Amino acid sequence: MELKDAVAVVTGANRGLGRHLAAQLMERGAKVYAAARRPETVDLPGAVPLRLDVTDAESIRAAARTASDVTLLVNNAGISTGTPLMTGSPDMVRLEMEVNFFGPLAVTRAFAPVIESNGGGAVLNVLSVLSWLHPADLGAYAAAKAAAWALTGAVREELAPRDITVSALHVGYMDTDMAVGVPAHQKTAPAEVAAQALAGIERGLPEILADETTRHVKRSLAASPNAA
Ligand SMILES: NC(=O)c1ccc[n+]([C@@H]2O[C@H](COP(=O)([O-])OP(=O)(O)OC[C@H]3O[C@@H](n4cnc5c(N)ncnc54)[C@H](OP(=O)(O)O)[C@@H]3O)[C@@H](O)[C@H]2O)c1
Repeated sequence: MELKDAVAVVTGANRGLGRHLAAQLMERGAKVYAAARRPETVDLPGAVPLRLDVTDAESIRAAARTASDVTLLVNNAGISTGTPLMTGSPDMVRLEMEVNFFGPLAVTRAFAPVIESNGGGAVLNVLSVLSWLHPADLGAYAAAKAAAWALTGAVREELAPRDITVSALHVGYMDTDMAVGVPAHQKTAPAEVAAQALAGIERGLPEILADETTRHVKRSLAASPNAA
């Protein structure tokens, strides 16, 4: 899709990757709704702050009513709680699924009719290399991102007849708050990841693999579990 004519809503646009995605979309000429749980934390001149908690059905409904001109939805908001599946808190496992799986599903269900009524467009789901690689210490996160990968494939097929393309961005560690304890040399700059994501949307790519680790893990999927 042509980003200069797009009207985008980016979830979790107040910091991290979402903020870079929103800023770069505006640089390319798009109108941007910068969605955040606390819209007062959005400091992006030119963006329209929008209240949206991806776990709150009423806030999703209200956001879709307000941002009625949207043609591009970026499901970026996410959490990583470092919860293992066997010994971690069940409440935290459910929270990871709520934010990283049910959240993007609910937001997509709300915005698909909006995008369709504006003549079609695109959805980008921010996923992870951990959609495919499932380390025990991040079990809840990996399970949620794996589920969100399946969601992306199924929704891609379901929305294609409605002229909405659905893409996934898979990425390893990025230099954001989420990966604050990870050594710098293992992290990609979120600005670089955002640039790749937007180039992928422009090309209509179904899957955007943002770093060499992610490409390597994808290539290794036919090997034994977690061999990558
Ligand atoms: N950083 C990495 O290494 C990495 C790697 C692979 C994939 N990812 C994915 O990249 C995406 C962006 O993450 P990031 O690295 O930019 O993390 P981040 O800096 O921690 O930012 C997370 C964003 O999500 C928002 N958020 C959390 N829960 C929300 C909710 N219930 N409703 C609405 N917004 C919510 C946060 O808002 P608040 O400010 O209100 O908390 C914040 O804007 C996520 O989907 C993440 O899983 C990250």
